[in-house]
Amino acid sequence: MQTPDFGIVIMAAGRGTRLKSARPKVLHEIGGQALLLHVIAAARTIAPPEKIFCIIGHEADKVRAAVAATGVQFVLQPDPKGTGHALQQLKAHFAGQTPPKHLLVLSGDVPLIRPETLAALTAFHLAEHAAMTILTAIPPDPTGYGRILRAAPNSAEVLSITEQKDLAPNQLATPEINSGIYCFETATLFSNLDRLTNQNASAEFYLTDIAALLVAEHQRVVATIAPHSDEVLGANTIAEMMHLDASLRIATAQKLMAQGVTIFRPDTCVIDATVEVQPDTIIEPYVQLLGHTRIGANCRIRSYSVIQNSFLGHNVLVRNGCILDSSTIGDNAQLGPYAHLRPDSDIGEAAHVGNFVETKKVRLGKGSKANHLTYLGDAVIGAGVNIGAGVITANYDGIHKHTTTIGDGVFVGSDSTLVAPITVGDGALIAAGSTLTQDVPADSLAIARSQQVTKPGWVATRKAKSSGDPK
Ligand code: UD1
Ligand code: CA
Repeated sequence: MQTPDFGIVIMAAGRGTRLKSARPKVLHEIGGQALLLHVIAAARTIAPPEKIFCIIGHEADKVRAAVAATGVQFVLQPDPKGTGHALQQLKAHFAGQTPPKHLLVLSGDVPLIRPETLAALTAFHLAEHAAMTILTAIPPDPTGYGRILRAAPNSAEVLSITEQKDLAPNQLATPEINSGIYCFETATLFSNLDRLTNQNASAEFYLTDIAALLVAEHQRVVATIAPHSDEVLGANTIAEMMHLDASLRIATAQKLMAQGVTIFRPDTCVIDATVEVQPDTIIEPYVQLLGHTRIGANCRIRSYSVIQNSFLGHNVLVRNGCILDSSTIGDNAQLGPYAHLRPDSDIGEAAHVGNFVETKKVRLGKGSKANHLTYLGDAVIGAGVNIGAGVITANYDGIHKHTTTIGDGVFVGSDSTLVAPITVGDGALIAAGSTLTQDVPADSLAIARSQQVTKPGWVATRKAKSSGDPK
C-alpha cells in the first residue's frame, strides 16, 4: 500500500564498529542481498524511490554505488555523530522546501522488516494522530537495544526511550525494545531536532531522545508492538547477521515447500529469496541455490551442488557436487557428479554432462553426451553427439579464443583434442586419441594419431634372453 503523505528516510551512515569489518555494515549481505537493499525493498512498498532518502556517510561512495540502481535519493552525513544527527542532515536537506507531511524512519541494519508491518505502523501513526510512533518488540533477549518506558502498562503512550548503555540497574529487565523504526509528523520532528544533546554514554546525538523531548512538549508519542520480534532484530555483529540470514533462508525454504518443493534438511541449504523452484522438485541437503536461479518441476538436485543464476528445465537431474554458473539446462538433462558448468553453458534437452566435465560458453545439442573428464569451451555441438572420455576443445592459442563446431551425430573418440578454430561435419567419426587441427567433412572418419607398431613375441624373446644373463 503506497501512503501518499509519507516520505521515508533510511539511516545508513553509521560506521558499524561492532562488525569489525572493512566493509560498510549496510552492504553486508543476508539471504544473498545487502542489508540496505532489503530495507529499500520494504520501503518501496510504501513510497516511490524519489520519496526514499538514504542517509549515507561512512564509505558513502561505496554505499551509493551499491544501491543507486534502485533510484532512491541520498543525503550525506559525512561525519556520523548518531541517529539524531542523521535526521538533522535530512532536515538541512529540506531547508527551503516543503518536506513530506510524515516521515517513516527505517534503520539500514534492520533488514527483515515486512511490508505489512510498515503499512500497519503508518496506519497506526495516522489513526493515533501522533507526533512520533515507535515500532517496538518483545524479543527473547532485549540486551543491547534501547528500551521503551510506557506511560502506563496498557497505554499506547510512551514516556521515553533509554539506550542500553544508559539504563539504570532497575531498568535492565525492561522487556520492550525500540526497533529503530518510527513514524514522525515531520514539522514537529524538525522543530525539535536541534534540541538533542550528546550528553550520554556514547557521546552521540540519539534520535531516541526525541521521544522524551516531545512528551515534555505535550506531543503525543505512542508505540505499537511488531507481531514477530525477529523482523525488527538489528544486525550489529556478524553473529546477529548470520542469525537473520538463517531466519530469512528458512522463510524462503518454507515458501518453496508450501509451493510443492521438497527440501530435505532445509536448515543445511542456502537458498536466496530470489530463487524460483517449481513443484515436485527435490532438493537434497547441503545444496546452494543462488541469485536468479529458476528450476523447473520434477528435478532432483543432489547434495553439495551450487547453482547460481542458472535456468533449469523440467526433470533435470543434478548429481552430487555440481557447480553451475549462469547456465541453461534443458528438460530431462543429467549433470554430474562433479560437473562444472561455467557461464554461458547451454545444455540441450536430455543431454548428459558427466563426471569431472568442465564447460564454458558452449552449446551442447539435444541428447548429446559428454560423460567423463572433458573440457568443452567456446564450442557449438549439435544433437546426438557422443563426446568420449577425456576430450578437449583446445580453444585458446595463448592470445585469442577460437570456436569448435561439431555437427549432429558426431562421435568423438576418447582422449581426442580438437584444436580450434575447427569444424567437424555431421555424422563424422573421430578416432580415439586424435589431435585434430583440420576440419573434418561430414560422415568422414578422421584419425590423427601415430600408427601403432606391434612386434609379436617381442616380450617373450627378451625374457628368454635375459634369463641366460648372469645374476
Ligand atoms: C539504535 C537505537 C536503539 C534501537 C536499535 C534498534 C539510537 C540511539 N538507538 O541503536 O534504541 O534499539 O537501533 O536496532 O538510535 N546511523 C546513521 N548515522 C549515525 C549513526 C547511525 O545513519 O550517525 C545509522 C546506522 O548506519 C544504522 C542505524 O542508523 O543503520 C542505527 O544505528 P546503530 O548505531 O546501529 O544504532 P543501535 O546502537 O543499534
Ligand atoms: Ca543497530
